[in-house]
Amino acid sequence: MAFAYSDMLTTIKDRQWALADIDWDAPGAELITPQQRGALAAFMADLVWIEHVGARGFAALTLRAPDGPLKEIYRHFHAEEQKHANAELALMRRWGMLREDSMPVPNKNIQLVIQWLDRYGDELSLPVLGTVIPSLECALDGALVKFLLDEVRDPLCHEVFRHINSDESRHLAVGFQVLEQLGAGPARRIAIETAGFALRPTLLIGALLYTPLLSRMSTNIMAMGLDEEKLWNAVRRYEKAGDRSPDIKRLPLFHLVRMHGRATINRLQPIQGVNDALNKAIDHFPVRVLGRTPSWSKELTYEPVAK
Ligand SMILES: [Fe+2]
Ligand SMILES: [Fe+2]
Repeated sequence: MAFAYSDMLTTIKDRQWALADIDWDAPGAELITPQQRGALAAFMADLVWIEHVGARGFAALTLRAPDGPLKEIYRHFHAEEQKHANAELALMRRWGMLREDSMPVPNKNIQLVIQWLDRYGDELSLPVLGTVIPSLECALDGALVKFLLDEVRDPLCHEVFRHINSDESRHLAVGFQVLEQLGAGPARRIAIETAGFALRPTLLIGALLYTPLLSRMSTNIMAMGLDEEKLWNAVRRYEKAGDRSPDIKRLPLFHLVRMHGRATINRLQPIQGVNDALNKAIDHFPVRVLGRTPSWSKELTYEPVAK
């Protein structure tokens, strides 16, 4: 049956939830162990900002999508990713990991990606965003959330992520559908778009920031105890979408992103060597020179605002 964006939009509207629906003072916060606290706080800080990167991606897609239900869907997804970031901030606050008005600081890789997106996000085309975002959602969002649910016993955390995961399943369903449609276009158009993508220096910089980020996050969560197999399964969801759809297989960029994910998670050379070198450079990069955090990050709040 054909995928109807208008039906999906209705489902998205029906399934809206708000931070105010959750009792943030319910018991369970004490289940965070002192041994977990430090690593979990750093992990949550990264997760909050990765949601925000996702939100920024959907904001760019809102500009690129044709008028109609898909554009409206992206608008909702933008707000949902912000809501995820806010819910994660509220969890951090519940666990005593945030001082009153302070914002968590993400790792340097994420800071650089945020700055890059702030500058170039709106220049990205629908084929590029539409191919990269589902991969990011599978690899980062998917794997990170699984890790959290395995490690954290606070029942409220599980309740929050039930909402978040249900949103994410719709993000992916739409993401794969768009990917399929992109692949169903005329071969000539796909070739032109791919060449246009390959020739843009700003995209090369983006790729040089994205690849060490994925590598660092996967190393981090494996170091914290996530089973490699689970991480791999999360990334495999992206590959499987291609296995199911011959149209998706027609997209050269899909193959590039797929092979990149596979090489990164399995630490294959030469990608691993490139990632290690880039991460070493990023560790020495003085992020101060980038100036302040972009203004859109100010929309973050742990307050239980209804969205
Ligand atoms: Fe999310
Ligand atoms: Fe998402």
